[in-house]
Amino acid sequence: MKILITSGGTREKIDPVRYIGNYSSGKMGAALADAFAAHGAEVKVISGPAEVHYRVPMQRVESAREMLSVVEESLPVDIFISAAAVADKRPKYYSADKMKKESFENIELVNNPDILRTIAISAKRPKFVVGFAAESENHLENARKKLTKKSCDLIVLNDIKALGSDENEVWLVSKTSEKKLEKAPKKEIAEEIVKFIMGQYRG
Ligand code: C5P
Repeated sequence: MKILITSGGTREKIDPVRYIGNYSSGKMGAALADAFAAHGAEVKVISGPAEVHYRVPMQRVESAREMLSVVEESLPVDIFISAAAVADKRPKYYSADKMKKESFENIELVNNPDILRTIAISAKRPKFVVGFAAESENHLENARKKLTKKSCDLIVLNDIKALGSDENEVWLVSKTSEKKLEKAPKKEIAEEIVKFIMGQYRG
């Protein structure tokens, strides 16, 4: 069984020394990769900058657009897990020279591609597609909406407090069930998520 996982954050360049980024550590993606590998699956991680060390084959990328193109090159797979914290926007223009602080007040942004949705509605859609939702309010309601909007089979919902932390507390939201996994180390949460996905995948 082939599993593809995006992990870490993306960096969107402004100029040679500045970027837009986020606090994603890659810990949840790495824990999921280990848990799938322990089940005998062939796992590949595509990671943006992250502090974590991956124990499975990993391809490093930087921007959202780069991540999307490497994901597309890595298909087909059986299960796609989108655990990366992808920057929603990127600067419209990249400045090849370092911008002088006196020369800009605002940075114009454009939307990045939604990697998860692109893959979930593509002709090469893996059989099982999993997205994450990091919410700070209306958690379950937003997760249910995300499940439909992104054409996923499962949304793993967590609070933004999980970012960078060693622990997590999640809801597994699918079309047919909603299940809470109580607060535990990310390694244990990942093992439970993988068990759940394997159960659903095998039907
Ligand atoms: O829309 P939102 O960012 O809350 O959705 C989170 C989910 O969508 C995560 O699974 C994340 O990996 C994925 N995502 C993506 N590409 C984006 C934004 C989010 O794959 N540009």
